[in-house]
Parts: sequence; structure tokens; C-alpha cells
Amino acid sequence: MVEVHVVQKENRRHFEHLFDGYYRTRYDIYVRQRKWIALDRPDKREIDQFDTDETAYLFAIEGDKVVGSIRAVPTLQPTLLSDIFPELNIRGPIERPDVFELSRIFVLPEWRGERAKPQLEVGLRAAAFEYGLSMGLGGFTSVIETWWLPRFQADGWKIRPLGLPVEIDGMSVVAVYITCDEETWLTMCERRGLTRELLHWKGLGDLRRQSLPVLNASPELTLLP
Ligand code: COA
Repeated sequence: MVEVHVVQKENRRHFEHLFDGYYRTRYDIYVRQRKWIALDRPDKREIDQFDTDETAYLFAIEGDKVVGSIRAVPTLQPTLLSDIFPELNIRGPIERPDVFELSRIFVLPEWRGERAKPQLEVGLRAAAFEYGLSMGLGGFTSVIETWWLPRFQADGWKIRPLGLPVEIDGMSVVAVYITCDEETWLTMCERRGLTRELLHWKGLGDLRRQSLPVLNASPELTLLP
């Protein structure tokens, strides 16, 4: 059974033992498999300047392993968009307490596609909305490859491009602003058959500013192996 956990500085001690494997998995996926060679490091961990104390991680955990993840970086801190790809944003900097940047989504190969119900990749994106809504966020920025766009659209996401797509290392990349609102989350849950909140907030209950609307609970639909 996979559980999706919020991990941030206030509860990181519960998950510290997973971080080394998590960074090594990122290295496998982004450097070895996707060949994003600029991220190569001699210690074979993919860690960058946006992995800070202020970064929130959503870890999909099975047993003692992170099998999927997405990270959220506050836009009041340096982000990929502000520091690495500023040219992708022609609308001016976004530095807002209620906007986080999403990046580094991955799912281990054996968890891709529809093996998990709901699909783990879908679960992680829905969980990002749960996180945003619970923390009172109004939106996310993200630097994405354009093949994500139809997927976002299929989930009812409200997306505003921040610039034109640009070819970078053979990838078509665009910066987007994603509105984080209840309507979108509810639409996504309905379209994807999500019937309950996915996130676990171990030791973080007090940080949640808002509770989410109740979904139509159905015990049959869970994140199954
Ligand atoms: N380029 C173009 N299309 C891609 C793609 C890529 N790098 N990765 C996924 N897709 C699209 C394809 O349409 C693919 O269908 P196909 O396999 O028939 O070509 C479809 O997404 C399904 O992808 P799949 O990988 O089978 O499963 P998923 O939807 O469960 O997982 C990811 C999607 C991105 C989470 C997973 O592929 C992954 O972890 N990739 C490595 C990390 C990564 O590249 N993350 C995105 C940038 S941070």
C-alpha cells in the first residue's frame, strides 16, 4: 500500500532516513534515464539549490522507499523559474506567499501507468492540490514540458502560460501558472475517480489552515499496489 506524505521542515525528522534514497532515485531518473546531464554530481545524488529547509515534499512511500514524489518551493524563495529559467516568464516575477513552484515530479517505472488505482502520477498531482488548498495557497508555478498540457487540461486545471514555449536541450518547455482552487480539485477528483483525500500529515496537523470539502467516500478505491 502506498501512502502519500507531506514532508517539510516541521516533520522532516520522521522521514530523514528516506532522503538519501530519494536523492539517489532522482539521480537515476533525471541524470541516468532522462540524461539531464547538467544535474550530474559526483556523489550520485540529484540535489539542487531548491532543496532547502523551506521546500515541501510530497512523498509516495511504499514500505521504506519513496516510489514517487513532487516538490513545492515557496516563490518567496529562489525557484527554478526565477533563477534558472527567468526568460520563460515574460509576465514579471511571481513572488507571493500563497504561490509555490512545483517541480521534480517522478514515479518509479514500476509504478507508472495505471498499475495503481488511482494512477500514482495522478495521485501526486491531486495531492499537490490537497496540499495547496490545505495550506491556503492560491496557485502554483511550474516549468513544464509541453506534453503535460493536454493532461492538465483533461483534469480541468486552470492554466495560464507565463511565456511562449522554448526549446531547451531538445525539450519544448513552458512556464505556467496553475490556479489552486477547490473547484479544480473537485473536478479532478471526479474525473479521475478519486474518492478520498490522499495526503497524510504526520505531525503537521496544526499547520493545515483549511479543511477540504468531503468527497464521496468509497472504500473500494484506494491507492493500491
Ligand atoms: N516525454 C514525452 N511524453 C512523456 C514523457 C516524456 N519524457 N514522459 C511521459 N510522457 C507521456 C507520454 O504520452 C506517455 O505515454 P507513452 O508511454 O505511451 O509515450 C504518458 O505520458 C504516460 O507516461 P508514463 O511514464 O507511462 O506514466 P505516468 O503517467 O504514470 O508517469 C511521469 C508520468 C512523468 C511521472 C513518469 O514518466 C516519470 O516519473 N518520468 C520521469 C520523471 C520526469 O520526467 N518527470 C517530469 C519532469 S520533472
